Amino acid sequence: MTLATTTGPRVRRVRLRDYTTLRVGGEAELWEVDGPSDLREATREPFLVLGSGANLLVADAGVNERVVRLGRRYNAMPDFAAGPEAWVGAAAPLPGLVRRAQRAGLSGLEGLSGVPAVVGGAVAMNAGTRFGEMSGVVAAVELFVDGDLGVVPAAELGFSYRHTALPAGAVVTRALLRLTPSTPEAVAASMTAVDAARAGQPKVKSAGCAFKNPTGASAGKLIDEAGLKGLRVGDAMVSFEHGNFIVNVGDATAEDVTALLAAVRSRVPTPLELEWRPSGV
Ligand code: EPU
Repeated sequence: MTLATTTGPRVRRVRLRDYTTLRVGGEAELWEVDGPSDLREATREPFLVLGSGANLLVADAGVNERVVRLGRRYNAMPDFAAGPEAWVGAAAPLPGLVRRAQRAGLSGLEGLSGVPAVVGGAVAMNAGTRFGEMSGVVAAVELFVDGDLGVVPAAELGFSYRHTALPAGAVVTRALLRLTPSTPEAVAASMTAVDAARAGQPKVKSAGCAFKNPTGASAGKLIDEAGLKGLRVGDAMVSFEHGNFIVNVGDATAEDVTALLAAVRSRVPTPLELEWRPSGV
């Protein structure tokens, strides 16, 4: 007799504030998936995919969409022993991946040192810093879309600054990385330079940079020059350390954060486009 081995998605009601680095957001139904049949069940519209929650602003009322999170089956780290090209699971944490590539003496990911993402989320928004972004290392992605898995080459993903044109309703399940042979020492040295550039960023609850940098400018510098550091709505505050960070100094709500974003935009002469992914706000 064949026993069913799958138990289906693990579904529970959670407070999304517990799943975001900004620590803001109401309730939702979280569907944790561990395989194609789970994904098929969980990705009936409407749904959204939760990565590491590091670039997310969730409404106080929560979200009505099902929130899909990839489980352990999707966090496989790449095997670089076989060469500089390897698949990595979408739920794998980027910081661990960056360190692994460094140990293997492979270059390409060091510009993403310190970026608090999982691979799928980093691909979906083309995460990065001035020193490098995901588009520089991703050769292809495996996507779950319309109930099936398929592989899409990077050239068809429409990578641009903090943006990827993924097909609607697609879930990134794996990414094929193409790194460049170097040495552990050289990669470590580049990582130190990247880490130094981020040293002035706040360490308290935030969702990273709130706005994209306008062409040829730094949003943080523009906000700083407008004298907005320390501007506060409720417990949401423009960081004193970096103008493009909105920090949660206590128990900020999405309403506080949204009002603060609007206040910042109205006082900076250059139009600012949000980098975060808003959900329900
Ligand atoms: N600056 C100020 N005041 C501030 C902030 C910055 O004068 O309050 C000045 C700095 O002194 C520097 C310039 O503006 O001369 C650029 O600042 P920074 O080096 O911090 O870079 P950024 O353009 O503000 C970008 C990314 C960051 C990434 C850093 C470091 C964006 C929107 N931001 O910031 O990414 O960590 O470079 O590489 O692309 C993120 O995406 O969440 C993020 C934080």
